[in-house]
Amino acid sequence: MTPSASSPLVDISNLCFGYGSRPVLDGISLQVPRGKVTALMGASGGGKTTVLRLIGGQLQPQSGNLVLNGQDMSGASQDVWYAARRRMGMLFQFGALFTDLSVFDNVAFPLREHTNLPSAMVRDIVLMKLDAVGLRGARDLMPSEISGGMARRVALARAIALDPELVMYDEPFAGLDPISLGTAARLIRQLNDNLGLTTLIVSHDLEETFRIADQVVVLANGKVAAQGTPQAVRESSDPLVHQFVNALPDGPVRFHYPGPDVRDDFGPSGSKKRTGR
Ligand SMILES: Nc1ncnc2c1ncn2[C@@H]1O[C@H](COP(=O)(O)OP(=O)(O)OP(=O)(O)O)[C@@H](O)[C@H]1O
Ligand SMILES: [Mg+2]
Repeated sequence: MTPSASSPLVDISNLCFGYGSRPVLDGISLQVPRGKVTALMGASGGGKTTVLRLIGGQLQPQSGNLVLNGQDMSGASQDVWYAARRRMGMLFQFGALFTDLSVFDNVAFPLREHTNLPSAMVRDIVLMKLDAVGLRGARDLMPSEISGGMARRVALARAIALDPELVMYDEPFAGLDPISLGTAARLIRQLNDNLGLTTLIVSHDLEETFRIADQVVVLANGKVAAQGTPQAVRESSDPLVHQFVNALPDGPVRFHYPGPDVRDDFGPSGSKKRTGR
């Protein structure tokens, strides 16, 4: 079956997932449209990285459906997953460069790992990708010789080395100063448009993410609280979404990881228990 150009590249419906018995995703449905930049947002621990791992096949849904490029992935074989993953680029949260490889070799790594291209072609592709992130001139430097923002751009170049259909970035802006952050955000948008990619980005930076995204999905308390244009999400009257887009510390979104009641740990009865943890 050839999926139509208008069908979403990733289509998740009623998906449930938890690590062990604790549910993290409680029946979520979301679509990643082709050619667009979709931002996945929500509180820390809300399950954003988990969604990326499900799309990448590192985790399997407990129920519900994941359709990639028109193909239902439930029960897909390792070979099918391998082929699907080959069409994805991923920039992991805290994902670092290989410190003992040069900038060039970091970007060449997926090409050498996944293809049998002759070295002259690997060289051309690596230099093209480095050029796209403005670092063709830094090819011979080691990761220890470049700044954090440059390292992030090298990681972007590595994520797109295999010309993926879908590129997923998990927190690509973490730890960047405002100027580098703006540059990285614009770069993600440009790479998406110039290379004809589909982008799924997880980010906590509201302003910059709302600026570059076509669509925003907000996860809260295991559900999709909002999915729409940045403008529509910003104007949402849903209290969960309102709390999130206005960065309010308290509201319907839980700040605390579920645990014993605070009175049990700190209250008068809790103090009696304070022999262990
Ligand atoms: N390998 C794991 N084993 C057990 N629990 C996990 C594992 N990975 C994540 N979790 C739990 O699942 C929940 C969702 O985690 P996830 O990493 O998807 O959140 P997140 O939205 O990406 O958060 P952040 O914004 O902090 O990166 C968290 O409560 C976390 O403790
Ligand atoms: Mg995460």
